[in-house]
Amino acid sequence: MSPTKAARVFPHRHLLGIADLDADDIGQILDLTDSLREINERAIKKVPTLRGRTVLNLFLENSTRTRVSFEIAGKRMSADTINISGSGSSASKGETMLDTARNLMAMNPDVIVIRHSASGAPALIAKHVDCAVINAGDGTHEHPTQALLDCATIRTHKGSIAGLEVAIVGDIDHSRVARSNILALAKMGANIRVCGPATLIPRSITEIGGALTRSCVRVCHKLEDALEGADVVMMLRIQNERLGKNASRFANTREYSRYFGLNARTLALAKDDAIIMHPGPINRGVEMMPDVADSGRSVILEQVANGVAVRMAVLYLLGRGNLTDLEAIHQ
Ligand code: CP
Repeated sequence: MSPTKAARVFPHRHLLGIADLDADDIGQILDLTDSLREINERAIKKVPTLRGRTVLNLFLENSTRTRVSFEIAGKRMSADTINISGSGSSASKGETMLDTARNLMAMNPDVIVIRHSASGAPALIAKHVDCAVINAGDGTHEHPTQALLDCATIRTHKGSIAGLEVAIVGDIDHSRVARSNILALAKMGANIRVCGPATLIPRSITEIGGALTRSCVRVCHKLEDALEGADVVMMLRIQNERLGKNASRFANTREYSRYFGLNARTLALAKDDAIIMHPGPINRGVEMMPDVADSGRSVILEQVANGVAVRMAVLYLLGRGNLTDLEAIHQ
Protein backbone atom coordinates (compact mmCIF):
# COMPACT_ATOMS: atom_id res chain seq x y z
CA MET A 1 0.00 0.00 0.00
CA SER A 2 1.39 3.41 -0.95
CA PRO A 3 1.95 6.00 1.80
CA THR A 4 -0.62 8.28 0.12
CA LYS A 5 -3.34 5.64 0.35
CA ALA A 6 -2.28 4.64 3.86
CA ALA A 7 -2.63 8.24 5.05
CA ARG A 8 -6.10 8.82 3.59
CA VAL A 9 -8.76 9.42 6.22
CA PHE A 10 -12.00 7.66 5.29
CA PRO A 11 -14.43 10.55 4.90
CA HIS A 12 -17.64 8.86 6.09
CA ARG A 13 -19.10 8.23 9.54
CA HIS A 14 -21.51 5.52 8.36
CA LEU A 15 -21.79 3.00 5.52
CA LEU A 16 -25.42 3.29 4.45
CA GLY A 17 -25.05 2.67 0.73
CA ILE A 18 -22.66 2.64 -2.21
CA ALA A 19 -24.52 5.74 -3.43
CA ASP A 20 -22.64 7.76 -0.76
CA LEU A 21 -19.18 6.52 -1.84
CA ASP A 22 -16.94 7.64 -4.67
CA ALA A 23 -14.33 5.59 -6.54
CA ASP A 24 -11.57 6.65 -4.11
CA ASP A 25 -13.64 5.49 -1.10
CA ILE A 26 -14.33 2.14 -2.76
CA GLY A 27 -10.66 1.82 -3.76
CA GLN A 28 -9.59 2.55 -0.19
CA ILE A 29 -11.85 -0.20 1.19
CA LEU A 30 -10.65 -2.67 -1.46
CA ASP A 31 -6.97 -1.86 -0.80
CA LEU A 32 -7.48 -2.31 2.93
CA THR A 33 -9.35 -5.58 2.26
CA ASP A 34 -6.35 -6.85 0.28
CA SER A 35 -4.10 -5.91 3.17
CA LEU A 36 -6.26 -7.59 5.82
CA ARG A 37 -7.04 -10.80 3.92
CA GLU A 38 -3.92 -12.63 5.11
CA ILE A 39 -5.03 -12.37 8.75
CA ASN A 40 -7.74 -14.90 7.89
CA GLU A 41 -5.06 -17.36 6.72
CA ARG A 42 -3.02 -17.23 9.94
CA ALA A 43 -2.99 -19.96 12.59
CA ILE A 44 -3.98 -17.32 15.18
CA LYS A 45 -6.61 -15.28 13.31
CA LYS A 46 -6.72 -12.26 15.58
CA VAL A 47 -5.24 -8.75 15.72
CA PRO A 48 -5.73 -6.25 18.55
CA THR A 49 -6.89 -3.40 16.33
CA LEU A 50 -10.45 -2.96 17.65
CA ARG A 51 -9.76 -4.07 21.23
CA GLY A 52 -12.14 -2.30 23.59
CA ARG A 53 -14.61 -1.44 20.79
CA THR A 54 -18.17 -2.79 20.85
CA VAL A 55 -19.97 -3.90 17.68
CA LEU A 56 -23.70 -4.69 17.84
CA ASN A 57 -25.00 -6.87 15.00
CA LEU A 58 -28.73 -6.13 14.86
CA PHE A 59 -30.22 -8.58 12.36
CA LEU A 60 -33.97 -8.07 12.17
CA GLU A 61 -34.16 -10.07 8.93
CA ASN A 62 -32.72 -13.54 8.25
CA SER A 63 -29.10 -13.92 7.20
CA THR A 64 -26.38 -16.57 7.15
CA ARG A 65 -23.35 -15.13 5.31
CA THR A 66 -23.60 -11.47 6.30
CA ARG A 67 -24.37 -12.04 9.97
CA VAL A 68 -21.69 -14.69 10.50
CA SER A 69 -19.04 -12.80 8.56
CA PHE A 70 -19.66 -9.55 10.47
CA GLU A 71 -19.34 -11.51 13.72
CA ILE A 72 -16.14 -13.23 12.59
CA ALA A 73 -14.74 -9.94 11.24
CA GLY A 74 -15.36 -8.17 14.54
CA LYS A 75 -13.86 -11.01 16.57
CA ARG A 76 -10.76 -11.25 14.38
CA MET A 77 -10.22 -7.52 14.96
CA SER A 78 -10.66 -8.12 18.75
CA ALA A 79 -13.88 -6.10 19.02
CA ASP A 80 -16.57 -7.25 21.45
CA THR A 81 -19.32 -8.39 19.09
CA ILE A 82 -22.90 -8.94 20.25
CA ASN A 83 -25.56 -10.46 17.99
CA ILE A 84 -29.22 -9.56 18.25
CA SER A 85 -31.89 -11.19 16.09
CA GLY A 86 -35.52 -10.20 15.63
CA SER A 87 -37.02 -13.36 17.11
CA GLY A 88 -34.81 -13.29 20.21
CA SER A 89 -35.21 -9.58 20.94
CA SER A 90 -37.94 -7.33 22.28
CA ALA A 91 -38.76 -6.38 18.67
CA SER A 92 -40.96 -9.50 18.83
CA LYS A 93 -42.87 -7.89 21.76
CA GLY A 94 -43.78 -4.83 19.73
CA GLU A 95 -40.84 -2.53 20.48
CA THR A 96 -40.26 -0.12 17.59
CA MET A 97 -37.02 -0.24 15.66
CA LEU A 98 -36.07 3.24 16.85
CA ASP A 99 -36.73 2.37 20.49
CA THR A 100 -34.58 -0.73 20.07
CA ALA A 101 -31.80 1.39 18.53
CA ARG A 102 -32.01 4.08 21.25
CA ASN A 103 -31.88 1.44 23.99
CA LEU A 104 -28.89 -0.23 22.39
CA MET A 105 -27.22 3.19 22.04
CA ALA A 106 -27.63 3.71 25.80
CA MET A 107 -25.09 0.86 26.21
CA ASN A 108 -22.54 2.94 24.25
CA PRO A 109 -21.57 0.73 21.28
CA ASP A 110 -19.04 1.99 18.73
CA VAL A 111 -20.73 0.41 15.70
CA ILE A 112 -24.25 -0.84 14.98
CA VAL A 113 -24.54 -3.21 12.01
CA ILE A 114 -28.16 -3.50 10.92
CA ARG A 115 -30.12 -5.69 8.54
CA HIS A 116 -33.80 -4.84 8.14
CA SER A 117 -36.60 -5.68 5.72
CA ALA A 118 -37.52 -1.98 5.40
CA SER A 119 -35.60 0.12 2.88
CA GLY A 120 -34.07 3.12 4.68
CA ALA A 121 -34.04 1.58 8.18
CA PRO A 122 -30.23 1.99 8.65
CA ALA A 123 -30.37 5.63 7.48
CA LEU A 124 -33.17 6.34 9.96
CA ILE A 125 -31.24 4.73 12.80
CA ALA A 126 -28.10 6.68 11.86
CA LYS A 127 -30.03 9.90 12.47
CA HIS A 128 -30.87 8.85 16.05
CA VAL A 129 -27.63 7.31 17.37
CA ASP A 130 -24.13 8.63 18.05
CA CYS A 131 -22.16 5.63 16.82
CA ALA A 132 -21.26 4.42 13.32
CA VAL A 133 -24.03 2.56 11.47
CA ILE A 134 -23.37 -0.06 8.79
CA ASN A 135 -26.12 -1.21 6.43
CA ALA A 136 -26.06 -5.02 6.22
CA GLY A 137 -28.95 -5.04 3.72
CA ASP A 138 -32.16 -2.99 3.88
CA GLY A 139 -35.24 -4.10 1.97
CA THR A 140 -34.82 -3.59 -1.77
CA HIS A 141 -32.55 -0.57 -1.28
CA GLU A 142 -28.84 -1.45 -0.83
CA HIS A 143 -26.44 -4.11 0.44
CA PRO A 144 -23.17 -2.16 0.30
CA THR A 145 -20.81 -4.68 1.88
CA GLN A 146 -22.03 -7.34 -0.59
CA ALA A 147 -21.10 -5.09 -3.51
CA LEU A 148 -17.73 -4.34 -1.93
CA LEU A 149 -16.93 -8.02 -1.45
CA ASP A 150 -18.05 -8.66 -5.02
CA CYS A 151 -15.72 -5.91 -6.26
CA ALA A 152 -12.89 -7.36 -4.14
CA THR A 153 -13.48 -10.79 -5.70
CA ILE A 154 -13.62 -9.41 -9.24
CA ARG A 155 -10.45 -7.39 -8.69
CA THR A 156 -8.61 -10.47 -7.41
CA HIS A 157 -9.46 -12.40 -10.57
CA LYS A 158 -9.34 -9.65 -13.18
CA GLY A 159 -6.76 -7.24 -11.77
CA SER A 160 -8.96 -4.23 -12.40
CA ILE A 161 -12.69 -3.56 -12.65
CA ALA A 162 -12.45 -0.75 -15.21
CA GLY A 163 -13.55 -1.80 -18.68
CA LEU A 164 -15.00 -5.17 -17.66
CA GLU A 165 -18.31 -6.38 -19.07
CA VAL A 166 -20.46 -7.57 -16.15
CA ALA A 167 -23.81 -9.36 -16.59
CA ILE A 168 -26.21 -9.18 -13.61
CA VAL A 169 -29.09 -11.60 -14.15
CA GLY A 170 -32.24 -12.19 -12.12
CA ASP A 171 -34.91 -10.38 -10.12
CA ILE A 172 -33.37 -6.94 -10.50
CA ASP A 173 -36.43 -5.12 -9.17
CA HIS A 174 -36.29 -6.62 -5.69
CA SER A 175 -32.52 -6.97 -5.42
CA ARG A 176 -30.55 -4.68 -3.11
CA VAL A 177 -27.47 -6.63 -4.26
CA ALA A 178 -28.13 -5.58 -7.86
CA ARG A 179 -28.56 -1.92 -6.88
CA SER A 180 -25.37 -1.77 -4.82
CA ASN A 181 -23.40 -3.67 -7.44
CA ILE A 182 -24.60 -1.51 -10.32
CA LEU A 183 -23.49 1.60 -8.42
CA ALA A 184 -20.16 0.15 -7.27
CA LEU A 185 -19.23 -1.37 -10.63
CA ALA A 186 -20.22 1.78 -12.52
CA LYS A 187 -18.11 3.94 -10.17
CA MET A 188 -15.16 1.59 -10.74
CA GLY A 189 -15.51 1.86 -14.54
CA ALA A 190 -17.25 -1.38 -15.57
CA ASN A 191 -19.98 -1.78 -18.19
CA ILE A 192 -23.06 -3.53 -16.84
CA ARG A 193 -25.76 -5.54 -18.57
CA VAL A 194 -28.81 -6.17 -16.38
CA CYS A 195 -30.99 -9.04 -17.47
CA GLY A 196 -34.23 -10.69 -16.39
CA PRO A 197 -37.93 -10.88 -17.20
CA ALA A 198 -39.25 -7.45 -18.26
CA THR A 199 -41.62 -7.59 -15.28
CA LEU A 200 -38.68 -7.79 -12.87
CA ILE A 201 -36.53 -4.96 -14.24
CA PRO A 202 -37.61 -1.46 -13.18
CA ARG A 203 -37.64 1.05 -16.01
CA SER A 204 -35.54 3.41 -13.90
CA ILE A 205 -32.68 0.96 -13.36
CA THR A 206 -30.32 2.72 -15.77
CA GLU A 207 -30.96 5.99 -13.90
CA ILE A 208 -29.98 4.95 -10.36
CA GLY A 209 -26.57 6.58 -10.64
CA GLY A 210 -27.67 9.46 -12.91
CA ALA A 211 -25.52 10.22 -15.95
CA LEU A 212 -22.91 7.66 -14.86
CA THR A 213 -25.23 4.65 -14.97
CA ARG A 214 -27.10 5.98 -18.01
CA SER A 215 -23.81 5.71 -19.89
CA CYS A 216 -22.71 2.25 -18.73
CA VAL A 217 -25.83 0.19 -17.83
CA ARG A 218 -27.70 -1.67 -20.56
CA VAL A 219 -30.93 -3.66 -20.11
CA CYS A 220 -31.14 -7.07 -21.83
CA HIS A 221 -34.29 -9.15 -21.90
CA LYS A 222 -32.58 -12.19 -23.43
CA LEU A 223 -30.02 -14.08 -21.36
CA GLU A 224 -27.92 -14.73 -24.46
CA ASP A 225 -27.52 -10.97 -25.09
CA ALA A 226 -26.38 -10.39 -21.53
CA LEU A 227 -23.86 -13.25 -21.55
CA GLU A 228 -22.26 -12.67 -24.97
CA GLY A 229 -18.61 -11.75 -24.29
CA ALA A 230 -19.14 -11.12 -20.56
CA ASP A 231 -16.11 -11.12 -18.23
CA VAL A 232 -18.22 -11.61 -15.10
CA VAL A 233 -21.59 -13.37 -14.76
CA MET A 234 -23.46 -12.51 -11.56
CA MET A 235 -26.60 -14.56 -11.01
CA LEU A 236 -29.30 -13.49 -8.51
CA ARG A 237 -32.17 -15.43 -7.05
CA ILE A 238 -35.86 -14.61 -7.35
CA GLN A 239 -36.70 -12.76 -4.13
CA ASN A 240 -39.91 -14.66 -3.35
CA GLU A 241 -40.13 -13.05 0.10
CA ARG A 242 -40.37 -9.62 -1.54
CA LEU A 243 -42.66 -10.44 -4.47
CA GLY A 244 -45.78 -10.28 -2.25
CA LYS A 245 -48.65 -8.79 -4.19
CA ASN A 246 -46.39 -8.67 -7.26
CA ALA A 247 -46.22 -12.49 -7.44
CA SER A 248 -48.06 -12.42 -10.78
CA ARG A 249 -44.99 -10.70 -12.27
CA PHE A 250 -43.16 -14.02 -11.99
CA ALA A 251 -44.46 -16.77 -14.29
CA ASN A 252 -43.16 -19.94 -12.65
CA THR A 253 -39.88 -21.49 -11.65
CA ARG A 254 -39.67 -23.87 -14.59
CA GLU A 255 -40.25 -21.14 -17.18
CA TYR A 256 -37.86 -18.75 -15.41
CA SER A 257 -35.14 -21.39 -15.34
CA ARG A 258 -35.65 -22.19 -19.01
CA TYR A 259 -35.19 -18.58 -20.15
CA PHE A 260 -32.90 -17.10 -17.48
CA GLY A 261 -31.15 -20.02 -15.77
CA LEU A 262 -27.39 -20.29 -16.27
CA ASN A 263 -26.28 -23.64 -17.65
CA ALA A 264 -23.21 -24.95 -19.48
CA ARG A 265 -24.73 -24.08 -22.87
CA THR A 266 -25.53 -20.45 -22.07
CA LEU A 267 -22.32 -19.95 -20.09
CA ALA A 268 -20.36 -20.82 -23.26
CA LEU A 269 -21.45 -17.43 -24.66
CA ALA A 270 -19.39 -15.60 -22.02
CA LYS A 271 -15.63 -15.16 -22.36
CA ASP A 272 -13.59 -18.32 -21.81
CA ASP A 273 -12.17 -16.88 -18.58
CA ALA A 274 -15.44 -15.44 -17.31
CA ILE A 275 -16.08 -15.93 -13.61
CA ILE A 276 -19.45 -16.95 -12.17
CA MET A 277 -20.74 -15.16 -9.08
CA HIS A 278 -23.78 -15.41 -6.82
CA PRO A 279 -24.35 -13.58 -3.50
CA GLY A 280 -26.17 -16.60 -2.03
CA PRO A 281 -28.37 -18.22 -1.05
CA ILE A 282 -28.54 -20.14 -4.35
CA ASN A 283 -31.72 -21.81 -5.54
CA ARG A 284 -30.00 -24.66 -7.33
CA GLY A 285 -31.67 -25.67 -10.56
CA VAL A 286 -33.54 -22.36 -10.82
CA GLU A 287 -31.19 -19.42 -11.56
CA MET A 288 -28.16 -21.68 -11.88
CA MET A 289 -27.59 -25.35 -12.63
CA PRO A 290 -25.54 -27.23 -10.01
CA ASP A 291 -22.77 -28.22 -12.48
CA VAL A 292 -22.18 -24.52 -13.21
CA ALA A 293 -22.43 -23.43 -9.56
CA ASP A 294 -19.83 -26.03 -8.58
CA SER A 295 -17.56 -25.62 -11.61
CA GLY A 296 -13.99 -24.33 -11.57
CA ARG A 297 -15.20 -20.98 -12.92
CA SER A 298 -17.47 -20.40 -9.93
CA VAL A 299 -16.02 -17.98 -7.35
CA ILE A 300 -19.05 -18.12 -5.06
CA LEU A 301 -17.20 -19.42 -2.01
CA GLU A 302 -14.38 -16.93 -2.62
CA GLN A 303 -17.04 -14.22 -2.39
CA VAL A 304 -18.00 -15.58 1.02
CA ALA A 305 -14.35 -15.63 2.16
CA ASN A 306 -13.85 -12.07 0.91
CA GLY A 307 -16.93 -11.07 2.89
CA VAL A 308 -14.95 -11.50 6.11
CA ALA A 309 -12.01 -9.38 4.89
CA VAL A 310 -14.25 -6.63 3.49
CA ARG A 311 -16.21 -6.44 6.75
CA MET A 312 -12.95 -6.31 8.72
CA ALA A 313 -11.93 -3.35 6.54
CA VAL A 314 -15.25 -1.56 7.00
CA LEU A 315 -15.30 -2.16 10.76
CA TYR A 316 -11.76 -0.87 10.95
CA LEU A 317 -12.49 2.31 9.00
CA LEU A 318 -15.70 3.13 10.86
CA GLY A 319 -14.89 1.67 14.26
CA ARG A 320 -11.44 3.11 14.69
CA GLY A 321 -10.84 6.10 12.48
CA ASN A 322 -8.21 6.19 9.76
CA LEU A 323 -5.37 4.25 8.24
CA THR A 324 -2.44 6.07 9.75
CA ASP A 325 -1.64 3.21 12.14
CA LEU A 326 -2.22 0.43 9.60
CA GLU A 327 1.08 -1.14 10.63
CA ALA A 328 -0.42 -2.05 14.00
CA ILE A 329 -2.77 -4.48 12.25
CA HIS A 330 0.13 -6.58 11.04
CA GLN A 331 2.03 -6.88 14.30
N1 CP B 1 -25.50 -12.53 0.46
C1 CP B 1 -26.23 -12.39 1.61
O1 CP B 1 -26.60 -11.28 2.01
O2 CP B 1 -26.49 -13.58 2.23
P1 CP B 1 -27.24 -13.70 3.62
O3 CP B 1 -28.67 -13.27 3.41
O4 CP B 1 -27.14 -15.15 4.01
O5 CP B 1 -26.57 -12.79 4.60
